[in-house]
Amino acid sequence: MPNRILDLLRQGQPNDAVSVRGWVRTKREQKEFTFIEVNDGSSMAGLQVVANQDMPGYAEAIARINTGAAVEISGVLVESPAKGQRIELRAESVTVYGEADPETYPLQKKRHSFEFLRTIAHLRSRTNTLGAVFRVRNAAAQAVHHFFQERGFLWVHTPIITASDCEGAGELFTVTNLDLKNPPKTKEGEVDFGQDFFGKRAYLTVSGQLEAEIMAMAFSNVYTFGPTFRAENSNTSRHLAEFWMIEPEMAFCDLLGNMELAESFLKSVFKHVLETCPEDMAFFNERIENTVLETAENIINSEFARITYTEAIALLEKSDRTFEYPVSWGLDLQSEHERYLAEELFKKPLIVTDYPVEIKAFYMRLNDDEKTVRAMDVLAPRIGEIIGGSQREERLDVLEKRIQDLGMPIEDLWWYLDLRRFGTVPHAGFGLGFERLVQFMTGMQNIRDVIPFPRTPLSAEF
Ligand code: 4AD
Ligand code: MG
Repeated sequence: MPNRILDLLRQGQPNDAVSVRGWVRTKREQKEFTFIEVNDGSSMAGLQVVANQDMPGYAEAIARINTGAAVEISGVLVESPAKGQRIELRAESVTVYGEADPETYPLQKKRHSFEFLRTIAHLRSRTNTLGAVFRVRNAAAQAVHHFFQERGFLWVHTPIITASDCEGAGELFTVTNLDLKNPPKTKEGEVDFGQDFFGKRAYLTVSGQLEAEIMAMAFSNVYTFGPTFRAENSNTSRHLAEFWMIEPEMAFCDLLGNMELAESFLKSVFKHVLETCPEDMAFFNERIENTVLETAENIINSEFARITYTEAIALLEKSDRTFEYPVSWGLDLQSEHERYLAEELFKKPLIVTDYPVEIKAFYMRLNDDEKTVRAMDVLAPRIGEIIGGSQREERLDVLEKRIQDLGMPIEDLWWYLDLRRFGTVPHAGFGLGFERLVQFMTGMQNIRDVIPFPRTPLSAEF
């Protein structure tokens, strides 16, 4: 069995006989020996291998090894005289699995721009930065499950194909099984898109919330963690057409409980990632954004600020900053406003609650003032909105009126209303955009660089 490079770097001892498999990052030929750095993806640092010219098959192997080649190397660990590494591998045998032609292999030993790396998404995970991003992403995903499982939340799998528009924003991708060569036609002879999913309408889900609410009404505390889709044509550094969302939903819970859960959830995920990926996090701090570690400590150790939307508007109106978008009560906060509040005014995450009813989704609980709803957004420095959530409207009559006022097709929501007919309780939940979280953690500027295969209006190559 080959050894994992991370384990060797952490625990390997001189004289251990080991073998590693991975991809060559660099090769440096000297007169009598060659240094080869091998990386198997388990850690930022690769293992330094020294192959001596008296090794059997030396010349042939070295000729075939270039950056990008896949190799298996066996030998003995020795103390390393080089700075910055405890051990290195003295090679006794080298097998080259697959060569990589140095003339055409696109990843050479220089810093490539993230724009360029996006054009080679099939190779970019072999770079230091993307490698670190995807290890942190993995650790964060594990931390999410750990957090909820420890608290007795049931992980529920909500559908990707659905008939409902949870957010009511009309940002839906239609799912179709239309025979495009011979599509059904309307009376007017046009393609009948109303028939597209086996005679019905269906979409890719924008959120698992409505189904999570169903499950919370049986299991009390549940969460989803799955892909969601938005057909919004925004080419920004914070928007994807396909992103992963984590949505807890809690029965017998109000907005206060929801805010507490969101805050302890973020703290817990940051803590886990700092503990399990210290080298990767140090790399981000050094090479990507020099506030990454300070931000993480700040999240873990300070209390999030809490203000109402009305207070947020007052603060924005009072500020001497000129914003691109207008600020006034009733208008939604734009990312520049969110960032100003979190980054400059509070300098830490901030929970804004009680937004105007007109700018929020139909399911949010109406406040007594009838102007605002029990909504909450968590705003993070550098990112803006990272979490959106609310207490839900559990009163049948109020919910029915809201749906009608919005002109939504109430008959399609019979099952959702049933939850208010049979054993309704106050309940609440939120959605965390997983990529925005990974962006926030790593300091990566562009959301396309924190998901292996980004889908945006401009890119979905494979
Ligand atoms: O605020 P949103 O639209 O809320 C919901 O979908 C609720 N149903 C959640 C709930 O209460 N269960 O989205 C939630 C979060 C946002 O705060 C943001 O982090 C992320 O999802 N998000 C996106 N991330 C990447 N690309 C996009 N296009 C996103 N749209 C939302
Ligand atoms: Mg939102």
